[in-house]
This record gives sequence, structure tokens and C-alpha cells, in this order.
Amino acid sequence: MKTEKICNMHILIVAYLASSLIFEVCSAVRMTTTTSTAAPQTTSTPATMAYSPELPTVPPQVCAEATSTITPLGRLRSAMRDSSYVQKNVLDAFIIFYTDEHLSEEPSADERRLEYFSGWDGPGTAVVLADGDAVVWVPPGEARRARAVLSCAWHVVDVDNLSPTDGIAEWIIKYAPRSARIGADARHTNNNKWEALYNILQREGMQLFAIPTLLDHLWNEELDPEKRRPEVNRVVAKLHNSSYTGMTWRQKVDLVRNELRIIGVEAMVVTALDEVAWLLNVRGRDLPYAPLLKAFVFVSMREVRVYAPPGKLSMPVREALAVYNCFANSNNCTRVKDYSEIYSDLRKATESKILIPQEGTFQRGASAAIAQIIPVTKRKFQTSPILYLKAQKNQAEIMGMHKAHLRDAVAMCTVLSYMEVVGKSGLNEISVATKVDITRGTQAGYVGLSMQTRVAFGPSGADPEYRAISASNRRIFPNSTLVIQSGGQYYEGTTAVTRTLHYGIPTREERKAYTTVLRSLAALSMLQTPATLPAAHTDPIARAPLWAFRQDYTQPTGYGMGAALNRKEDPVVIDYKQDINLHPFREGYFITCEPTWYEMGKYGAKLGNVLEVVPRPGGYLGFQEATLIPYEYKLIDRNALTEYEINWLNAYNERIRKIVGPELKDQGLTDVYYWMMNKTVRVESPRDKMNSPNFASSHTVGFEIILALASVVFTFDRYVNYY
Ligand SMILES: *[C@@H]1O[C@H](CO)[C@@H](O)[C@H](O)[C@H]1NC(C)=O
Ligand SMILES: *[C@@H]1O[C@H](CO)[C@@H](O)[C@H](O)[C@H]1NC(C)=O
Ligand SMILES: *[C@@H]1O[C@H](CO)[C@@H](O)[C@H](O)[C@H]1NC(C)=O
Repeated sequence: MKTEKICNMHILIVAYLASSLIFEVCSAVRMTTTTSTAAPQTTSTPATMAYSPELPTVPPQVCAEATSTITPLGRLRSAMRDSSYVQKNVLDAFIIFYTDEHLSEEPSADERRLEYFSGWDGPGTAVVLADGDAVVWVPPGEARRARAVLSCAWHVVDVDNLSPTDGIAEWIIKYAPRSARIGADARHTNNNKWEALYNILQREGMQLFAIPTLLDHLWNEELDPEKRRPEVNRVVAKLHNSSYTGMTWRQKVDLVRNELRIIGVEAMVVTALDEVAWLLNVRGRDLPYAPLLKAFVFVSMREVRVYAPPGKLSMPVREALAVYNCFANSNNCTRVKDYSEIYSDLRKATESKILIPQEGTFQRGASAAIAQIIPVTKRKFQTSPILYLKAQKNQAEIMGMHKAHLRDAVAMCTVLSYMEVVGKSGLNEISVATKVDITRGTQAGYVGLSMQTRVAFGPSGADPEYRAISASNRRIFPNSTLVIQSGGQYYEGTTAVTRTLHYGIPTREERKAYTTVLRSLAALSMLQTPATLPAAHTDPIARAPLWAFRQDYTQPTGYGMGAALNRKEDPVVIDYKQDINLHPFREGYFITCEPTWYEMGKYGAKLGNVLEVVPRPGGYLGFQEATLIPYEYKLIDRNALTEYEINWLNAYNERIRKIVGPELKDQGLTDVYYWMMNKTVRVESPRDKMNSPNFASSHTVGFEIILALASVVFTFDRYVNYY
């Protein structure tokens, strides 16, 4: 069975690769086939687990930041040696993790300890030696930006993906004193990572201690108003309307209890904030890019307990959750307890087995602090069952996603048409991002951004990690591509979209790049797959048109998306490098697809849509675009598109007109309506390329062989696309 599936996959890949090759040859005359010389990976500095002494060779006495005792770093160093902070546990090193107690991908401002102590605002991990260096590990591709942002007191190291602790433990062993005592907050990393660190260090005679409050203590004592710890968000969590949830919290708890019975545990602790929001049907404002409430939930067969800061639940939420007069062991109501009581309650839990969420692909699982407070014999590590329940959207959630995407289409059409018709002169990357955010904010049901809006002009677009800051901010000219990546949170659902634009006459190379990316998007969007095919295995289909030009990118092509929850969610990931997560698509999943062409130092071409997984006859699954925002026809080389791709494009444009058109008119956006109509003009199918004189004149050595291969593959390509 398995081999058969894989073989089919390979045939598909070969078909797509070969068909891309044909079209490369077909359009050889129109397109100068300048293949890009640099792969995107080369943007990142080579992974150097070992600390590279050649980096900042500045002697310590020149770097005042490194020896200052009043910076957060200096104060941490003093505190590590100060028994009034750490009692008798004097420390030689401290590890600072990036996230919050729920291991959220984008923690709120008051949880950004790594940023407070180091100045690095992105994800990463820091190690501070009491006597010696301070180092930050950053994700691949972020090292350059980190070096630019951080003071001379900090060294930057690329994450080493080959080591279970990203090279952190190895670094500590090399640079910390013998028998070093190392502190870290176990609330901010998961149990696997903690144990790996603990074990590697212990083998070298070093000891890792959980020190929960030191960092917060120091931050709370900060006097500088610029650096002071931000207030905890006091916005109260609201009930998520039942017309968007399609299920009551009691029904959801029943589903979870069923799963727990099957797994053979009596309870679970829900730590991921999107799972908490989904389960309780509440939405908060505690995180920057997702409408979530900071809370833990404990679900057992007998009761449901919510651990939330006092005053964070609105009256309707309290009523819906039946929190009044809810006593222990009553399974039809919810007991609300204080946020930090989760730890003491877990320590004295009476259930015999408790499920502790394990990390998935995007979800990081429960923290080491949560896992380790549960008595050893009661622990059961497993992926949270909620992750699967939540991914499969019901009818109400699907309708909500459609509604959110309709609003998002109106907002994006408005801003794109404005920039094209009125405002293209004098714009820069940051002003475009602001314009995009403000325009989204005018739509009904808008809650916030689902990601930081990223606008990249020209060479910036070729940097996968690029985020405009005032020092790098580029003006927008009509001589290159403009990539806009953004997304919104609406009451009804979550959106994300990427479009590439051009305000002048694109070059042949830019059109080739854009058209190839469009063909990648088409390839996945048109795909019909058996329901058992792992999502990760569809990646080569999406990348094949790009691979034909030796173009690749390091990030996944796509991932799951939540409904009014996180922009990235488990369980699926579309990534050919993935060999662990082989979860298939299910009807009702929403995913993203974001193929990219990076032309190093010149420009980028990126398109991103949200796709809904829909049933197809015969038990197959297919996709339908939830995103309904026009492409830039100026950048499309229709001669490089197959008939199928042209039909796909026309059908998409037709849907935009039919669905977004009336909404634009309803909102009185006549100019935007005409702009949209202009961008969705039907693309005519070109004449048969095989007979075109251009094609004949482009033939080179080996052409006959390719033609022979082509006829075989062409037949196959048709077969693949029809069925
Ligand atoms: C649980 O509470 C709901 C609403 O208060 C009620 O309709 C239902 O009958 C109760 N179920 C049980 C088993 O008590
Ligand atoms: C685009 O035009 C601007 C202004 O004329 C110029 O500074 C820039 O170098 C040009 N970029 C490219 C890629 O030609
Ligand atoms: C569509 O846009 C093109 C390019 O700007 C312009 O020449 C054309 O007149 C527009 N058509 C309509 C119907 O607005």
C-alpha cells in the first residue's frame, strides 16, 4: 500500500517536473532562462554551533555594555551571584527562553523576557554567563538582523538544528566553568527540551535548576520607563458567538472526554491558548496576533477547571460556562480558579493518569514546569486530542472563515487599488504596511492583525526574514516587485494573504518568477489527492514548477490555519523535509500555500492563499481558495501557463467577481469594484505552443529527446489533471 502511494507520488512529481521543463523550453525565446545562482539558504550564515571567536573581536573593555552593572544584563549577572535573589543557589549561567507559560509563538509584550534582557525582539534563546559571555541563539536566517540589533555585549549564534538542544548545552559545556550551576525558568520551554538540556549538562557534571521568578523579579524592579515591564493586558475575554462556533463548550468537552477515554487517561491539562479558546468558546486579547485568553484548563471526567487571572472573564462568559455555584466534582459546570493555582492543583491531582500535551509541529506542548509538577506515575505524554478536533472546522466555522476572507478581500482590494491609482508615489515599505493595517481595520468584525504586516520592495523581497525597520525602509519605485504579506483576525475567522505587485513595466525575469510562483500555487490548488496522502508529501507538487528553475525556499510551503485562532496550527504541514509529521488532510481543514521565488539581491515573487480542504468524488480531497484577492496580470506570462492553469486562473477570477464584486458594491466602493473587474479580466488561452514558430526557433541540442519525453508526459499531465 505504502510503496504504491509513494510510487504514485513520484509519477506525479516527474510529470510536473517534466511538464515544467517543457514549458521552460516552450517559452525559451520569450524568457531568457537565467537561473538564479543563489539558493535562499545562502542568506543565512552557516550554522555555527561552536561559538565563533572571529565574530566580535572587540576587547571587553571597549564594550561598556558588557561590563555595565545597570543594564538588564548586568543586573542579571549580579543577581546570579546574590543570595538575596537566588538564596544559596549561586549560579554560573542563566538560560533565558523566548516564550510564555503556554509556549506561544508570539508572546505578549509583558512576557518578552528575552527582549528585555538582550534587546533581541525575535524568537531565540539566550545564555548569560556570570563570568564571561552572553550569547543569543536565533533561528536560521535571522543572525544578520540579530547582529545589527544587539549591543556588543551579546554574541549571536545560528541555531544548530542537528543537536537536540540547538547547540546550547554544548556551548555551555565549552564555556561555563566546571561543575557549573545553571538556572532557567522551566515554565518557558517544553519538557523534551528541558530534559535534553538537563541530561547533557548532567553528564558533564553540571546542574540545571528551575528558577521560576528571578527574571520577572528583575524586570519588575526596572526603573527606566523605556524598559519597564508593560502592564498585563486587562481586556476581558468575550464569548465567541455560537453562530461562529457551531458547538457548545459542553459538546466540545464531551468530545474531549471521549478521546481521553480512548487514550486511557482520566484527565488532561490544556496549555495551548488556541485550544483553551476553542474548548471554552471564548476569545481574548492577550496575544498580539491571535484573539486568545491567557488561561489553563483542566478537563477530567468529573470536572472542568479554568485557571484565569481574576476579572478576565466577561459576565456572558461566566454565565455560558456556568461558573456560579459550581462545586468540586460536578461535571456540568466550570470552576474558575486563579491562574497560578494550576501548579498546586496539578501537584495534588487525584486522577490516576493525566495527559500532558506533547509538542507537535507548530504547537510546542506543555511546559516543563507543568509536566514536572504532575507526579511521575500520573504522567502520560501525548499529542493533545484537541489539536485534531480543532483543525477540522464545522459548518459554522467554515462559513465564518468564508465571511472573514470576504471582508479581507474587500480590504486588500481597497488598499491595492488605492496604491495603484492614487498613492504609488512617495510610498515606502513602512507606509504601505501602515496603509494595509488601517484599511483592514475599517472592515466590520475586524479584531486585529494575524501577523506583523511585511512589505518588501526590490532586494528586500529576496530576504525570507525581511521586516522593514526605519533603517532599512525602502522607497517604492516602479522598477521592481513589491511583496506584501499580511493577515487579519476577524470575529468570524482568520486570514492571511501574500501578493506581489509591480508599478512599472516588469522585466522578463520578474514575469518569469511571478508566473512560476503562480504555477506552483495552481499545482497545489488543483491537486486532488487520496484522503490518506500525508500533507507533507504534496509539497513536491507545489514546488515542482520552481524546482524546474532550480528555485527553492527553506520554509514550509504551507501549514494549517485556525478559525479565529492561530494563523499557524497543527496538525498538517506542507514541507518535503518533514519526516515525522505525516498527517493527511481532512475535509474542513484550512491550510496556507505560499510558494516563493527569491532572486538574491534583486527581488522576490511570493504568492500566498488560504485553501479550504473540500471533498471530491471517490473519497478524494481537493482544495478551494478561501482567499479571493486578484493576482497582478502584468506579472503573468500567459504563454508559460498550461491550458489547465489558464482555466484555473479564469475560474478563480470568476469567483472573485461573483463573490467579492457584490460586497464591494454593497460597501459603496465603486472605484475598487472597477479596479477588481480590471484585474480579473479573462485570460485567453494561447495557441498550441507545439506549433508556434517561436517554439520551433528556440530548439536546441537535445530538443528531439525532450519532445519525445514531452509527448509521454503531456499525456500523463492531462491524465493527472482530469482525474
Ligand atoms: C447541564 O446543564 C445544562 C444547562 O444548564 C442543562 O440543560 C443540562 O440538562 C444539564 N445536564 C446535566 C446532565 O445535568
Ligand atoms: C529603481 O529606481 C530608483 C530611483 O530611480 C533607483 O534608486 C534604484 O536603484 C532602482 N532600482 C533598480 C533595481 O533598478
Ligand atoms: C485596466 O487597467 C489598464 C492598465 O492600467 C488600463 O489600461 C485599462 O484602461 C483598464 N481597464 C479598465 C476597464 O479600467
